[in-house]
Amino acid sequence: MQTPPNEFTPEAWPARVRAFAPQFALVLGSGLGCFVDCIEIAETVSYEEIPGLPVSKVAGHAGRFVFGTLGGTRVLAAQGRVHLYEGHSARNVTAGVRLLAAAGAKRLVLTNAAGSVNPAFAPGQWMALTDHLNLTGQTPLLGGAHFFDMSAIYSAALRNRFHEAAKTEGVRLVDGVYAGNLGPQYETPAEVRMARTLGADAVGMSTVLEAIQARALGLETAGFSCLTNWAAGLSAAEITHAEVLDLGQRAAGDLARILCRAIATGAETP
Ligand code: HPA
Repeated sequence: MQTPPNEFTPEAWPARVRAFAPQFALVLGSGLGCFVDCIEIAETVSYEEIPGLPVSKVAGHAGRFVFGTLGGTRVLAAQGRVHLYEGHSARNVTAGVRLLAAAGAKRLVLTNAAGSVNPAFAPGQWMALTDHLNLTGQTPLLGGAHFFDMSAIYSAALRNRFHEAAKTEGVRLVDGVYAGNLGPQYETPAEVRMARTLGADAVGMSTVLEAIQARALGLETAGFSCLTNWAAGLSAAEITHAEVLDLGQRAAGDLARILCRAIATGAETP
């Protein structure tokens, strides 16, 4: 099996953070800024500081990396990601994950906003990803015989730890399958019925390519969807970006509490 190229080495990072050796890396969806509030910040690196890292074309979403500690655990959080629907390639969409791996992270948490296609999963809840459907037609591994096994793309051990933290925090956390679409338009009701028939519980526009890249790099990965709305056809309400952002922001505190508790007590890894 070929190893796909990783254009980033540890030297891609500014010298001031190279010795940091994060135990956990996170990619935070736009609403999850509040997670950073529970990090004791040591350093920040703006995306523009890293040559070769694609920056979001959406104004005001440049993004930054936050290095810090949570309890006794060293964490590296990426605030902001780029998406396929902005016109980026699958390789560019996953550059951040390769960079997090080049920093030495062995564990990765991916978060996103998604529409619920499961009538039992109401908006406002968080879903831990057990698996995904990559419906983008794209892969970051294109270009060689990169035959990676995807049968355990999201770590059950890591998910169990987050479930324990959710229980302690009194936050409802459901398990489900995430379907990643290209976007940027939301789905039609027929597309949502298709996703449901295929086994999805939620639909969104990110995460699947990053998870594939993480798996190929050997990172232990967890994924979380904030269910911000009923997917098209499950309710009569129109889906708006403002509503997605609003509910995402209101639910963010719940996941932040789960992540903070689970990660702060997870320092046993190197
Ligand atoms: N569909 C796709 N992506 C999304 C949705 C949705 O309903 N909600 C938030 N992101």
